[in-house]
Amino acid sequence: MSVIENTIAYVKKELANAEGGHDWFHIERVWKLAKTIAKEEKANLLVVELGALLHDIADSKFHNGDESIGPKKALTFMHTQKISKEDKQHVLAIIENISFKGGETQNNIDSLEFKVCQDADRMDAIGAIGIARAFNYGGFKNRGLYDPAIAPKLNMTKEEYKKSTAPTINHFYEKLLLLKDLMHTDTAKKMAAHRHVYMETFLKEFYAEFEGRL
Ligand code: ADP
Ligand code: NI
Repeated sequence: MSVIENTIAYVKKELANAEGGHDWFHIERVWKLAKTIAKEEKANLLVVELGALLHDIADSKFHNGDESIGPKKALTFMHTQKISKEDKQHVLAIIENISFKGGETQNNIDSLEFKVCQDADRMDAIGAIGIARAFNYGGFKNRGLYDPAIAPKLNMTKEEYKKSTAPTINHFYEKLLLLKDLMHTDTAKKMAAHRHVYMETFLKEFYAEFEGRL
């Protein structure tokens, strides 16, 4: 089996009990998006594919906030495969830096392959899938759908972002509607524009229905 096939088998096994927003299908969507973007942008495909496949191998949200478990697991796995030292370090840097965790986080890698993986992961947080994932996550966290009295909070610190208990609609203003302007590659910018309009339409409908206007 190829390195990619082995990686797929490993990730599927590790994520067998993951919650809906972070299951194998999230990884598969990000992997497919990443391949599409990588081809357009002429990025190193092996590094991009490994970065996409391994980026959520252990989400800190489900490991008491420990952000080092995922990268450690990914590296241990990569040592079992025929991957050059250089590529392993590159993939490791990608997965250490990929997550959006509120305003303060600084990225300390800016390779094309990193940009492609981050664009693909962010793409899966917007559009129809993004809407579904947000409400799924909100339900998992026992959050309300919407409360007109609780205003969205922009520029939260990493800690505030993690602790927030706001209703799910707020997440659109705190993150989802900001993602289109954070895309790095031209290919992703174009795809994100379409998904962004879809979310705006959804919000318009949501408020109209909320007030019984539709
Ligand atoms: P990833 O690890 O895939 O980059 P996150 O772990 O930040 O993404 O979030 C997983 C999914 O849950 C995303 O679709 C994201 O929009 C959603 N999500 C994260 N935080 C919240 C929140 N506070 N409210 C609603 N949805 C959220
Ligand atoms: Ni992800």
